Amino acid sequence: MCGIIARIGADDGVDRLLGGLERLEYRGYDSAGIAVENGAGLAVQKCSGRVGDLVDSVEDSGVYGGIGIGHTRWSTHGPPTDDNAHPHTGATGEVAVVHNGVIENHAELRDELRDAGHEFTSDTDTEVIPHLFERHLADNDPEEAFRQAVRDLDGSYAIAAMVEGEDAVFAARQGSPLVLGVDDDEYFLASDVPAFLEHTDEVVYFEDDDVGVIRPDDVELSTLDGEAVERSSEVVSWDPDETGKGGYDHYMRKEIENQHVSLANGIEGRVSEEGEEPDLDEFPAGTFSGVERVQFVACGTSFHAAKYGTQLLNKAGVAAQAFRASEYDGSIPVDSDTLVVAVTQSGETADTLAALDRARRASARTVAVTNVMGSTAARTADDALFIRAGPEIGVAATKTFSSQVVALSLLSHRVSLDAAEEGPWDDPAAYYDALEALPNHVESVLDFETAEEVADRFLGSDAFFFIGRGLAYPVAIEGALKFKEITYEHAEGFAAGELKHGPLALVTPRTPVFTVVTGDDDETTVTNAQEAGTRGAPIVAVSPSDHKITDVADAHLPVPDTHPDLVGLLANVQLQLLSYHTADKLGRAIDKPRNLAKSVTVE
Ligand code: G6P
Repeated sequence: MCGIIARIGADDGVDRLLGGLERLEYRGYDSAGIAVENGAGLAVQKCSGRVGDLVDSVEDSGVYGGIGIGHTRWSTHGPPTDDNAHPHTGATGEVAVVHNGVIENHAELRDELRDAGHEFTSDTDTEVIPHLFERHLADNDPEEAFRQAVRDLDGSYAIAAMVEGEDAVFAARQGSPLVLGVDDDEYFLASDVPAFLEHTDEVVYFEDDDVGVIRPDDVELSTLDGEAVERSSEVVSWDPDETGKGGYDHYMRKEIENQHVSLANGIEGRVSEEGEEPDLDEFPAGTFSGVERVQFVACGTSFHAAKYGTQLLNKAGVAAQAFRASEYDGSIPVDSDTLVVAVTQSGETADTLAALDRARRASARTVAVTNVMGSTAARTADDALFIRAGPEIGVAATKTFSSQVVALSLLSHRVSLDAAEEGPWDDPAAYYDALEALPNHVESVLDFETAEEVADRFLGSDAFFFIGRGLAYPVAIEGALKFKEITYEHAEGFAAGELKHGPLALVTPRTPVFTVVTGDDDETTVTNAQEAGTRGAPIVAVSPSDHKITDVADAHLPVPDTHPDLVGLLANVQLQLLSYHTADKLGRAIDKPRNLAKSVTVE
């Protein structure tokens, strides 16, 4: 968890450090800090609270410097206090360190350092790093001292460190993301590209075990053992404007409203000329012949998208299952005939990466479906399929869910054609026609203004339930997840048929039941909704306008009528808007909901 940044240049770079931290705040936002070198020693400024609080205190202090490191924290070890905020320094203050990851042997290292007279001022695992660095500095030059300090660590880390009087930032990566930004006369290091994208789009991704020494005019990369390594640079295709709010009050609103653009990008050039099957450069026809079963591993919203892929594959007769990555343990049979698909927007979720590792160790074939080029998942899996959603900054995933679903529908169709010689649809052309029309349909959902009215009407309810069957089920559970994430209200998603097996006991006139129907084979779902309605629950239909559910519903969130396998995606946009408006009316921190972070890099 957490976001780190470094800026290495000759002129003052404090604004760039702070700007980078603001763009990384989606990774954590409970405390923040910077350290800069300005020829008069290391100046450290840090505090609990948001990056905005840090900006105020930096402005008051007038701190400046060309070389600096920064951090925005999502606490794992120790509460969000000033002392626990990064950067951390050693005993003498000549070293400052920011870190993302978890140092697993921090307790032993701390004991050892304490016995040697070091005193600690925080509860963090990170604080051992500057102490180790300082200890090794006694007998080594800074680069070697840093290398030795890193060798002492077990666990995951992306580290940026500075030494007083040195014109350099020392960096290392093991299991946590770290990317170098290369500009004409300055360098950046960050957990993620949006941190510096407004300054440069040329990037070099660190690999595990890489150590970097970055000076204003030079970068040296080597392995932890000191062997020089070459890493080629890439140009990131994201538009820097995409990382700003673009006039919206919240990133989430912008990302919901721009969904038609990301969907169009995700579809473009990926459907055959006849419009009947996928045409994926990454996976030509026949790629997946011999695959016997498919296992999806994912967390949170990505798990819900994975469930959609599972259902399409099952429809085509391919055995497929979706696993919550944190539950994908040694008890799940996996072998070389298994295709394991890791679905992860960020490509950095620790639980998903651990599941991917397990699949690779079992010789499974692996594919990462991700939004981030250069991410660990993209580099670890045998192949990657990029969802092309562009940067998503709001913590609650919105546009990436719909882009994942589209990418998974293309992938699932390819896999089923190769592995089972049939697809999920009797009339694939009808599906692809609807897919091409999807961006326009999303725009029409945005034109309906009903989500805000419905949000208003049910504000103050005791709980919010979401039900759906078949392909509407992943939408129901995603709708509930979004709702609880950003409104902090109690929300649950259920398979429509399960309502009567327990959850119905919770249903009252103060618990609206949002019922997602897709326009195909929905009679039973309508009955399930009525079962809740007769117990007094208000029913909100999320459906095309002429659907029979509207006859029994108290309110309606309309969606355009389209292919039944895509109606759910449109229903999901309505539910995103519902969550957004409810959270807005409740005054919640929509882009940065309490206790949550966008990219969870700890298991
Ligand atoms: C976190 C986020 C969720 C996200 C999940 C998986 O929990 O708060 O919004 O769905 O991680 O993230 P990934 O990057 O793997 O899709």
